Formats: sequence, structure tokens, C-alpha cells
Amino acid sequence: MTLITTDINLASEMLKNEDVIGMPTETVYGLAGNIYSEKAIKKIYEIKKRPFINPLIVHIKSLECLNKVAINVSESALKLANTFWPGPLTLILDKHSSIPDLITAGKNTVAVRIPNHPVALALLEIVNFPLAAPSANPFGCISPTSAKHVAEYFNDEISIVLEGGNCQKGIESTIIGFRNKQPILYRHGSISVQEIEAVVGKLEILTKNDSAPEAPGMLSKHYAPITETFLTNDVIEFIKKSPHKKIGLLLFKQEIDNQKIIHQEVLSKSGDLKEAASNLYAALHRLDKLNLDIIIAEQFPDIGLGKTINDRLERATKR
Ligand code: TXA
Ligand code: MG
Repeated sequence: MTLITTDINLASEMLKNEDVIGMPTETVYGLAGNIYSEKAIKKIYEIKKRPFINPLIVHIKSLECLNKVAINVSESALKLANTFWPGPLTLILDKHSSIPDLITAGKNTVAVRIPNHPVALALLEIVNFPLAAPSANPFGCISPTSAKHVAEYFNDEISIVLEGGNCQKGIESTIIGFRNKQPILYRHGSISVQEIEAVVGKLEILTKNDSAPEAPGMLSKHYAPITETFLTNDVIEFIKKSPHKKIGLLLFKQEIDNQKIIHQEVLSKSGDLKEAASNLYAALHRLDKLNLDIIIAEQFPDIGLGKTINDRLERATKR
């Protein structure tokens, strides 16, 4: 049984003893371990069932610690860090020689961010070493946005999840890498493309199907519910085409008037894409528990965080 606790000293003791715990961040919960502990890092890969070719994000407590994990930090990387840290931005930088190969999957780059969550920051301060923390979901499953989601996924494998409430952003960090010093978007996330471009100018965008070796995590199928899920821009028409099915809906602003629908999740009644993003995974978790035949999700407007939501929904619906 996994204990959900606010005892940060217990959490830090476990990390110092090379164990793995659930940790809150403002984006999603992470499976955290000391980056310098081979035992902890192996356990993260093992319980997440993550292939060793897919590297982990390193979480640091402050900008002063950046030079312990990364080198050759460019002007534009620093500009992004100064603008968005602590916050949901992950930078892919040249790795410091002390970073174990297990963390970076043998690559010469490392993914780094400073999380903007008081509990995560307090924990990083107490343990005083960087924490590797991939999202706390088994490989391919929906990311967790509450301590309970984590406990449900890893009930037999981790002893504690540090309670930090529901994740305020609710969707992963935006990942930015660099090619010839030019910023590239590796993963859509909590910070929109427009917000990044306002700081560093035009971004190159790696597409989902780009099998670029520098972005090993860009698998097209990911974040998927167990229930078969479809994405459409005409939900009513899709319902008509699915008679005799137990249907759940994932909608942007408004419910649909149809008695046959078992359950409807509306992500933001006021039409706020940030609010919608923060509710997305929790809504998918709820829908996935209802024993539905299918989930039908509505396509979101392709602007701001709508792009991030559509990206996740496309991955969730990939068969
Ligand atoms: O919001 C987040 O980023 C959350 C919270 C817990 O911080 N973490 C998270 O971690 O989403 P994860 O492991 O689920 O996703 C990190 C992605 C993976 O797709 C991985 O392939 C990529 O970052 N990544 C890590 N290191 C990399 C590197 N050196 N080069 C390219 N991609 C890298
Ligand atoms: Mg993940």
C-alpha cells in the first residue's frame, strides 16, 4: 500500500536512502529519485516500464545549481530559464560530465527544469541533490495530476507519495532543445509556443512523426486511456455513427444534449484553454474508470494551449 503523506522529512529520508517516491510538481506528479543513485534511477525505469533509451528530466532547486548539471548554456537558453523558471519549461542542454549515463540514456545532453511547486522546491532544498523525475505513470499511460493517481498506478512499487494537491498546470512542461543554437520545440506543454517565441523568436517545431534521435520521447502513441478514444471536430456526427455503444465525452466548453451519453466531461465552461489544460488528465482518468465502450474527444482550437491539448489527444487516440 502506498502512503499519501505530507511528511517531507520522511520523503527526504527515503530519497537519501536511494529510494523512489511520488513527488508533486505544478505540471504533473513525478517519480523522483537521486540522480546520483544508480539504485534509485534503475528503480524508476523499472517500475515505470520505461525503455532505457528514453532519458529522464533532472529537477534542480535554483539557477545557481544549473552549472552542476549542464555546460555551454547559451544566451537564449539562459534567457528562457530566467523568464520561465521556476516553471513548466524543460531545457535540453549539454550535460555536465558528472551526470550518470543512465539519466541521459547515454546522450551528451540533459533535460533540466526548476519546478514551480512549494513542496517540490522544499524537498529539493532539504535533500540538496538534483532529482530525476519522469511523470509518475507507467509507460504510455495518462500522466497523474493528483497523489491518488500515483498511488493507484504504483501501489505495490513505491511506499510514499508526497501530497501536493491537484497539479495547478495539469499538463507536462514544454521542452525546448537547441540545434546550432537555434531553439527547437521538442514537446508541446504548459507554456505555449507563442509565449516561448515572445522571448527567443521563431521556434522550429519537431513534428510528432519526426523520428529525430534527439527527441527519443516523441512517441506518437502516449498518454493513452485504456478505453478506446477518438478525436473529432464533429462530436454529434460521431455519436450518430456509434449506435449501441456506451459513450463518454470529453468536451471543451459545453455539454451535448443527448440522453444516451453515459458521462460528459467539460474542461472549461468559460472557454479558457489554460483551465481546460489543467483539467484534461483528471477528466481522462475519470472517464477511463467508467467501463465505457468508447470515449469521444472534441478537437480543441489550435491556438495557445489548445495546441498542447490537441497534441495529447492525438497521442491518446492513436491505435
Ligand atoms: O512536466 C514535466 O516535465 C514532468 C514533471 C514531473 O517535471 N516530467 C515529465 O517527464 O514529463 P517525462 O520523463 O515523462 O518526459 C520527459 C521527456 C521524455 O519524453 C524524454 O524523452 C525527454 O523528456 N528527454 C529527457 N532527456 C532528454 C534529452 N537529453 N534529450 C531529449 N529529450 C529528453
Ligand atoms: Mg511522461
